[in-house]
Amino acid sequence: MIQVKKVNKVYITGEEKLHVLKDVSFNIEKGEFVGIMGESGSGKSTLMNIIGFIDGKFTGSYIFNGQSVKNLDDDEMSKLRNKAVGFVFQNFNLIENYTVRENVELPLLYAGKSPKDIKSSVENALDSVGILDKIDKYPNQLSGGQKQRVAIARAVAHKPDFLLADEPTGALDSVTSIEIMDIFKKLNRDNNTTVVMVTHDRSLKSYCSKVLFMKDGDLKERTDV
Ligand SMILES: Nc1ncnc2c1ncn2[C@@H]1O[C@H](COP(=O)(O)OP(=O)(O)OP(=O)(O)O)[C@@H](O)[C@H]1O
Ligand SMILES: [Mg+2]
Repeated sequence: MIQVKKVNKVYITGEEKLHVLKDVSFNIEKGEFVGIMGESGSGKSTLMNIIGFIDGKFTGSYIFNGQSVKNLDDDEMSKLRNKAVGFVFQNFNLIENYTVRENVELPLLYAGKSPKDIKSSVENALDSVGILDKIDKYPNQLSGGQKQRVAIARAVAHKPDFLLADEPTGALDSVTSIEIMDIFKKLNRDNNTTVVMVTHDRSLKSYCSKVLFMKDGDLKERTDV
């Protein structure tokens, strides 16, 4: 599904050049659960932005389902992003003055789904993360773990090709982190949902079928982290 080959990313700010990704290559197949680890500043989010069709400015090649992702215009990038990816963030990124239902509806509205499809997709997604009973609540009426469940429901409701999660348990205590990881595991096992997750928490590697480790711009698959 995802084929990244010799990708390089250089940030240029004024006189300074920062070579963040150096000949990064890897593949991700449908149904994998991939962990991306590495120190702060090693380039994990930079890589996620490329895989998630947020940043198209890189050299090397990225083939997604047989299609080259380079040289797409902004419109093509955002169409691909809205259709193919479900994003989950450390700080949930829910809209505070929208209800749970309205938050989960958003990507479906972007995708141009019918009202009937939207209603059933939202309810199915909330049910799949065990939080359908909170559908009319507002984010500030929920715990951190419940907010992250809503965010996961929002990410999966339009049935994307893969989930990109950047430190999804970073703001949660250890018990709640395990609950959230178990939801990712269930989605991966039952629906064959592909998960790509950045984490610095090595205890989570047992959830991953593969760990990619970033160091000084180099990315290597590792089994010993
Ligand atoms: N838009 C940008 N312009 C210039 N430099 C950037 C930009 N974004 C990130 N960087 C730099 O690139 C390097 C990699 O950043 P990145 O955010 O990818 O790291 P990270 O591995 O996700 O770190 P963390 O674990 O702290 O989230 C850092 O040195 C950062 O300062
Ligand atoms: Mg980061």
